[in-house]
Amino acid sequence: MRVLITGGAGYIGSHTAVELLSEGHEVIIFDNYSNSSTTVPERIARITGGPLTCFRGDLLRPSDLDLVIRDQGIDAVIHCAGFKAVAESVEDPLMYYRNNLTGLINLLDAMAEHDVRNLVFSSSATVYHASGESPYQEDSLVGANNPYGRTKEMSERVLADLVASDPTWAVTILRYFNPIGAHPSGLIGDDPEGIPANLLPYVARVAAGELPAVQIYGDDYDTPDGTGIRDYIHIMDLARGHVLALLENREPGMRVYNLGTGRGTSVKELIAAFEAANGCVVPSVVTARRPGDLPVVYADPTLARQELGFTPRYSLEEMCAHAWAWQRLRQG
Ligand code: UD1
Repeated sequence: MRVLITGGAGYIGSHTAVELLSEGHEVIIFDNYSNSSTTVPERIARITGGPLTCFRGDLLRPSDLDLVIRDQGIDAVIHCAGFKAVAESVEDPLMYYRNNLTGLINLLDAMAEHDVRNLVFSSSATVYHASGESPYQEDSLVGANNPYGRTKEMSERVLADLVASDPTWAVTILRYFNPIGAHPSGLIGDDPEGIPANLLPYVARVAAGELPAVQIYGDDYDTPDGTGIRDYIHIMDLARGHVLALLENREPGMRVYNLGTGRGTSVKELIAAFEAANGCVVPSVVTARRPGDLPVVYADPTLARQELGFTPRYSLEEMCAHAWAWQRLRQG
C-alpha cells in the first residue's frame, strides 16, 4: 500500500513509518516539523533503506493536503499529527481545538475530494471517563477531562458521524495507552521539547544527568506501592498495531481498538525497571499528586488481539533499554 502518515516525523508516526516500510509498504510523510526534527526522515531511511517520500506541509493549509493527496496516489492515511500536551491544552485550548479538530476536518475533506476513504486515527486512552475502572474496554464510558483529551473525543465523534453519513469510509480508531521506548537502533525516539511532561522521557533525562531527580507525583494512591499505575507499551509494538489495523481496515465501517498490554506498572516499578535494565541510578523525590491524574489506568487488549491479531512482544526491560539507547544518541 501507499500510505500517507501525517505527523510522520513525530514519535508515533516515525516508528509507524519504520514498521510499514519494513513490511514492504510505501510511505509518504506529511509533517510541519512543529514538534519534530527535520533529521527524522533521514534516520528512518537509514533504518529501513526507504523508499520514503517527505512533504513539508500543514494540516491547517488545505492546499498542502490537496497537493499531497492528489499527486501521490495514496491508498490510505494514518493520521498521527496533532498536539498532545495536556497542560498546554489547558492554557491555550483554542490552539488545540484549531489544530486537532480543524486539521482533522481539512484532512477528511482532502481525502474525500480525491476518493481516499481509508483512515487509521491516533486516539488516546485519555478519552475514557475518570469514573471508569481498569481494565478499560472499548465500550467503557468516554468523557475526557482536559481540552487535549476532548479534541480526541470530539475527533472520534466527527469520524463516527462521517462513517454514518457515508458508509464507503473505512475508519479505525486506535486508543493508545502509554507508549514508551524507542526503535532498538536508538536512531529515533521520543523527543519532547523542553522539560518532558511524561514519565519515561523524564526518567531518561535524570539518568543522563540533565535533570536532578524524578518527581513522583504522589505515593498515597490506593495502589500496592502508593504510586500511579499505567499500561506502558513499547513504541514498536504500538507501531505494529497500526500496520495490523491498516490491513484490517479494508472493509467500510468504523472500528475502535485499545492498544495496550493489559499490564499495569507503577511509577516506582518503572523507575526500578529502568535502573535494572540500564545499570544506572535514577534519584527520585515524592511530591504532590498531579491534578487530573488517575490512580490506575490499563487496557483490556482483548479486542485488538482477537480482531487484529495484536500481541505486544517487547518487555518492560526492553522498553527501558531502548529508551536509554535513544537518550544516549540524543546526547551525542
Ligand atoms: C499523559 C496524559 C495523557 C496523554 C499521555 C501521553 C495527563 C494527565 N495525561 O498520560 O492525556 O495521552 O500522557 O502523552 O497528563 N509521573 C510522575 N512524574 C513525572 C511524570 C509522570 O510521577 O514526572 C506519573 C504520573 O502521575 C502517572 C505516570 O507517571 O502516574 C505516567 O504519567 P505520564 O507519562 O505523564 O502519562 P499519563 O499521565 O498516563
